[in-house]
Amino acid sequence: MFKGLDGRPPMRHSPVMEPMVADLSDEDMRALAAYYASQMPNGKSDVVTSSLAPGKRVYVEGSSGGAPACAVCHGVDGAGVPGLFPRIAGQHPEYIGAQLENYKNGRRGGKGRAMTTIGPLLSDDEIKAVASYIGSLKPQ
Ligand code: HEC
Repeated sequence: MFKGLDGRPPMRHSPVMEPMVADLSDEDMRALAAYYASQMPNGKSDVVTSSLAPGKRVYVEGSSGGAPACAVCHGVDGAGVPGLFPRIAGQHPEYIGAQLENYKNGRRGGKGRAMTTIGPLLSDDEIKAVASYIGSLKPQ
């Protein structure tokens, strides 16, 4: 969240997003969250499906640096678990890659959060590979 809810500080920072959401009330934020939660991805993917094997390996087996398999939390199909683990299937690889870089460099996440420990266990190549694989997963 780029703006804190219920008096808490924001969990993510972005010079683009923060000014856009600055005027939202807690009620607006809850309504927006409910709206997005009700949307279904359209299933279209712009990923070239060649050489997805290395990314799939990270996703279902974990990284060489010891990151747990992404599938454990985000699901084999990337659908996630509502309220616990976000759906990531079919997101743009550029977005997924940027988020993983953010977790790796401490720009997103925070103490005690799963991805904060997982990000640094991914190499740059593994981030690229797993981001492509996630982008290729068909949203359910
Ligand atoms: C122990 C459970 C767990 C594991 C294992 C896990 N994640 Fe996550 N992941 C989470 C949680 C919880 C969040 C939401 C936290 C947040 O927003 O910072 C998240 C968020 C994300 C996001 C951000 C999604 C978005 O829409 O911005 C990405 C991308 C992601 N995970 C990718 C991965 C990848 C790739 C792996 C495997 C290398 C992985 N995760 C393994 C729990 C997990």
